[in-house]
Amino acid sequence: MSAPIPAQNLYLGQARATKSVEDCMSIYDKWAATYNDEVGDAAQSYVAPVLVAQAAIKYNSSTSPANSVILDAGCGTGLVGQALSIASAKAIDGIDLSAPMLEVARQTGVYRNLDQADMNRPINQAAATYDTVVCVGTFTLGHVGPDPALRELVRVTKRKGIVVATILEEIWVPGGFRDEVEKLKAEGLVNVVSADLIDYVKGHGDKAVLLILEKIQRS
Ligand SMILES: C[S@@+](CC[C@H](N)C(=O)[O-])C[C@H]1O[C@@H](n2cnc3c(N)ncnc32)[C@H](O)[C@@H]1O
Repeated sequence: MSAPIPAQNLYLGQARATKSVEDCMSIYDKWAATYNDEVGDAAQSYVAPVLVAQAAIKYNSSTSPANSVILDAGCGTGLVGQALSIASAKAIDGIDLSAPMLEVARQTGVYRNLDQADMNRPINQAAATYDTVVCVGTFTLGHVGPDPALRELVRVTKRKGIVVATILEEIWVPGGFRDEVEKLKAEGLVNVVSADLIDYVKGHGDKAVLLILEKIQRS
């Protein structure tokens, strides 16, 4: 079980309790203006964006960050894009459900394209577009489920490219994420590079599986 959500971060609790895409969108639409101050605050120790950016760079042996075409799925206000940009990434696209969150991401200046999208539906992008796909904080309670999202992230990834995603620990098995990964592996679409638990928000007991997949089939 996760530790209680800090009182100053009520939106996170509300977002995780949502039962529909519309409700989730409306929470993030309201949260966009203060998200970075709350979640991005050092006191909150939201380490996942930096950890995922580091893993994406470490495990993609086929291209350097500067030459990689990257998708940040569920990019929010752009914390992951900014971490990737510090590591010299240049071509970063972002998708997210919430237009106000995307607007904050746009202001970072690190994204090439930003589009509104519901990741519970197929992604409007050609197969094998990206060297690296990252997804942080979006596979969580009340947000995006494993099917079709995981398969879609793999579909838009190039062969030998990688998908790096966080999945909140409490939904990894009960939410069907582990089973979906097993399916993708059994179909010969991916190698599971790792699926280790990480501190997601340090000090609050929130843990997530840091899932790293290598795409092995051209499709
Ligand atoms: C906790 S935030 C994480 C944002 C960013 N990746 C980060 O680490 O700061 C979750 C994000 O998921 C987005 N989201 C929620 N449901 C979604 C959906 N169905 N499709 C796409 N994005 C969604 C929200 O709008 C929000 O920006």
